[in-house]
Amino acid sequence: MLLAKADFKIVVFLGAPGAGKGTQAALVAQEMQMLHLSSGDLFRRAVERGDELGLKVKAFMECGALVPDEITTQMVLDRLSQSIDRRGVILDGFPRNLAQAESLDNALAHSAYERADAAIYISVEQEELVRRLSSRWLCRLCQTPYNYRHGDAVPACAKCGGELYQRADDAPQTVMRRLEVYFKDTAPLIEYYKQRGILAEIDGSGDVAGIAARIVKAIGDSK
Ligand code: AP5
Ligand code: MG
Repeated sequence: MLLAKADFKIVVFLGAPGAGKGTQAALVAQEMQMLHLSSGDLFRRAVERGDELGLKVKAFMECGALVPDEITTQMVLDRLSQSIDRRGVILDGFPRNLAQAESLDNALAHSAYERADAAIYISVEQEELVRRLSSRWLCRLCQTPYNYRHGDAVPACAKCGGELYQRADDAPQTVMRRLEVYFKDTAPLIEYYKQRGILAEIDGSGDVAGIAARIVKAIGDSK
């Protein structure tokens, strides 16, 4: 059971690969007591486990393509309906195209929640996106992201001591493919949510805490 609509916000995070969706969703979800629901993280965990879902999605992810809508949408909607005891949900990486956005709208229209409350578009210049992804390292245990340049000594996670690794899809060719897919399939959602009057564009460059504060305010201001 979800909380009553008035106490529960459904927020979509939009932005290119490397814009900081995961970084910001983790901070904002903790501050606002929301669930951070990342379709990419759910898929990566399934791939690591090597279960049926992981076997289905591995090849799509490795080449930077989108996982088919019927797999993705079902997985996210199932997880969404389990979000108990939170003040809302941040959808990080979903929806990713118009068909997924329409499926989400339909599912919400048939629930007590009616519709998404806010769409936060985190904008960052393309050169900076590539720089961030090529230097990204993640903790295998808690997923905290770091940035180390080629040749830097890479320590253990400062938060939990876990081993750091680089995502297979952060290889340069795959990053270019992911950016192409983003501009073709996902960027049109900026206009989609603008038309619905719930889009807030947040400058995603500069200080991480400052960006988080602007997002928290935008979510708080949403009706
Ligand atoms: P997904 O995991 O969603 O990846 P993505 O959208 O490509 O985005 P990233 O996770 O790479 O970037 P981010 O915006 O989260 O940035 P982050 O915070 O890490 O999807 C992966 C794959 O899964 C897809 O390609 C697809 O195959 C599949 N998939 C997922 N969802 C799907 C869907 N709905 N439908 C179909 N397929 C789907 O930050 C990046 C780096 O920058 C980090 O190192 C961080 O430390 C650094 N950083 C963050 N903020 C700042 C800052 N302000 N200044 C400097 N550095 C910063
Ligand atoms: Mg991410």
